[in-house]
Amino acid sequence: GSVYTPEEIRELGDVCVEKGVLIMSDEIYEKLIYGDAKFQSVAACSPEHQAHTIIVHGLAKAYSMTGWRIGFTAAPLPIAKAIGAIQSHSTSNPTSFAQVGAVAALDGPQDHLGEWLGEFSKRRTFACERLNSINGLSCINSEGAFYLFPKVSGTGMQSGEFCERLLGQAKVAAVPGVAFGSDDYMRISYATSMDNIEQALDRLEQFVNSL
Ligand SMILES: Cc1ncc(COP(=O)(O)O)c(C=O)c1O
Repeated sequence: GSVYTPEEIRELGDVCVEKGVLIMSDEIYEKLIYGDAKFQSVAACSPEHQAHTIIVHGLAKAYSMTGWRIGFTAAPLPIAKAIGAIQSHSTSNPTSFAQVGAVAALDGPQDHLGEWLGEFSKRRTFACERLNSINGLSCINSEGAFYLFPKVSGTGMQSGEFCERLLGQAKVAAVPGVAFGSDDYMRISYATSMDNIEQALDRLEQFVNSL
């Protein structure tokens, strides 16, 4: 849920341009951003940045089209052509109704986003405050997407053991932070109802208190 500032994005891009490194920029959470955080595509920083960037994007997050198996890319022409050549021999094409749905999602009204962001924002703040009230856990609020990344190592466990025991004993599923390179943390999603979030946090609290 962290969001780099436009200046940080540009500076990261500068390094890649200078060293001749290609950037794959996954911008699927572009629209799911809270408060003062700002979305900046590295490709939009300058023509040189654009020439070094392959944007990958999809409809699974801002349009809930999870499972429709459709996304899109924007890349310098030779790279886009090479992607097309490989893709057309592996999956042929995304199915027709998903293509029509994707165009409707992108071209249609975007009013739902304001409502969703308000709701997600309530959930993230509620969950973050609850997490911080649990002894041994600490969390900073997210600025984008729909995940929180609380620190769990204060319980004496690393992320794999913590998540396995949390699942087995409290029936709450979370992703061990080690999968993202941070073994002191776990990832939880708040893309679910407030009732589910409350219940999961109650169980998490009971679990931690029982340790
Ligand atoms: C950063 C990121 N990119 C891409 C995806 C995948 O999206 P899709 O369902 O369109 O394959 C996800 C979803 O889990 C994601 O978190």
